[in-house]
Amino acid sequence: MNSQKTGVLFVCLGNICRSPMAEAVFRHLVEKKGIQDKFRIDSAGTGDWHVGHRPHRGTQEVLQSHGVSSAGMFARQVKASDFDEFEYIICMDDSNVTNVKGFAKGNYQSTVNRLLEWSTKAKLKQPDANVPDPYYDGRFEYVFQLVEQACTDLLKTLEARIVERNQ
Ligand code: 4NP
Repeated sequence: MNSQKTGVLFVCLGNICRSPMAEAVFRHLVEKKGIQDKFRIDSAGTGDWHVGHRPHRGTQEVLQSHGVSSAGMFARQVKASDFDEFEYIICMDDSNVTNVKGFAKGNYQSTVNRLLEWSTKAKLKQPDANVPDPYYDGRFEYVFQLVEQACTDLLKTLEARIVERNQ
């Protein structure tokens, strides 16, 4: 049996609004299934302005309103070793995809793409497949709905891959 953890890193610009929301929701879904031993879950920002800060108040409030914990989360910046530790680097928008690749030292194996690419349903709501930034427009509940839908579908796919790998 392969007991290696699957690393999932969520990435946005500031690591205070969208990617901590995705980290908290994904961890919540994983814990509800009791499969937390199978995953290493984290989030980071491509920018460094908010390093050490707690998630944005809007993110904390929307998570709390849905019964999702944001305890113990503090912003950090992406680092080169993330490409060794995380098999999946899941970005909120296309600029995050471009910018996160700049942190890699040489070749990497990680899959780098956008969260909404994992979900047909979320892409119907947001056809450009970018998670809009509530830092600018305050739409934390809308972003929560997108993130929850996409994280649910992401988890389904990753669980199936883990089962396949362990066969
Ligand atoms: P995030 O949102 O990338 O979803 O965390 C932002 C947070 C902070 C800033 C921009 C976006 N900022 O310019 O400080």
